[in-house]
Amino acid sequence: MKLSQEPGPIGVFDSGYGGLTILHQMRQILPQYDYLYLGDNARAPYGTRSFDIVYQFTREAVMKLFEMGCHLVILGCNTASAKALRTIQQNDLPKIDQDRRVLGIIRPTAECIGKITNSRHVGIVATPGTIKSNSYPLEINKFYPDVKVTGEACPMWVPLVENYEFDSPGADYFVEKRINNLMRKDPEIDAIILGCTHYPLLLNKIIKYVPKCVQVITQGEYVANSLKDYFMRHPAMEEKCTKAGTCRYLTTESPEKFKESAQVFLHKSIEVDKVNLD
Ligand code: DGL
Repeated sequence: MKLSQEPGPIGVFDSGYGGLTILHQMRQILPQYDYLYLGDNARAPYGTRSFDIVYQFTREAVMKLFEMGCHLVILGCNTASAKALRTIQQNDLPKIDQDRRVLGIIRPTAECIGKITNSRHVGIVATPGTIKSNSYPLEINKFYPDVKVTGEACPMWVPLVENYEFDSPGADYFVEKRINNLMRKDPEIDAIILGCTHYPLLLNKIIKYVPKCVQVITQGEYVANSLKDYFMRHPAMEEKCTKAGTCRYLTTESPEKFKESAQVFLHKSIEVDKVNLD
């Protein structure tokens, strides 16, 4: 299929709703651009899926966003950034279109953490897939080799969010258990990265169980500022992004369901279209 060379919206992809927390910050900091959000809700969650499947699903989503006119796609999902980004950048983009770009959200988060931690001990909570990939320790140590990174996989946290249980008393059990595990592994941690885009919805619960001296880091603002910086360094790509301040939403599941859930993330009503990826 021939891809359009006309300017288009910035694509934002997530397995489901989590990327909306990233999109929200991007629209706060870079409101002038048009955005096209795609949630692969029909196949979410990705967090417990294999490398090959996450890569295949993410590649399909990126292709769809390219076909719909995006020149730049942000993987607003840590699991996809950890398991699919490098292969797409190195193997697929040269064949699809040399001038299109896909960026992840792990690097911008890793870049900021050395400026936040004093103890040089950092914790990361994320899906089993992201933790297993070791992407956070690898990326953080590229910038800050002196920082010790300890991870804790939280397999129940995404289902809690996806099922609107993030404010329920049941969520306390799972949040407390994982935070305690993490702090037991390394009591010197003074900053915890929420390395999954769903987790900002659990922030109130997380703060309840994190020791007072520990900072909890959400990614959205760092990702948005990093994109702003990227555009300054890549004016040709910036010119390919249309600027009417609009946002369109696509889902692989039922648009009605997406609309209802998106309200929890965005605090407003939106229009949603269904899309097929396979
Ligand atoms: N929101 C995704 C992330 O940031 C994970 C959700 C999922 O498991 O699909 O990792």
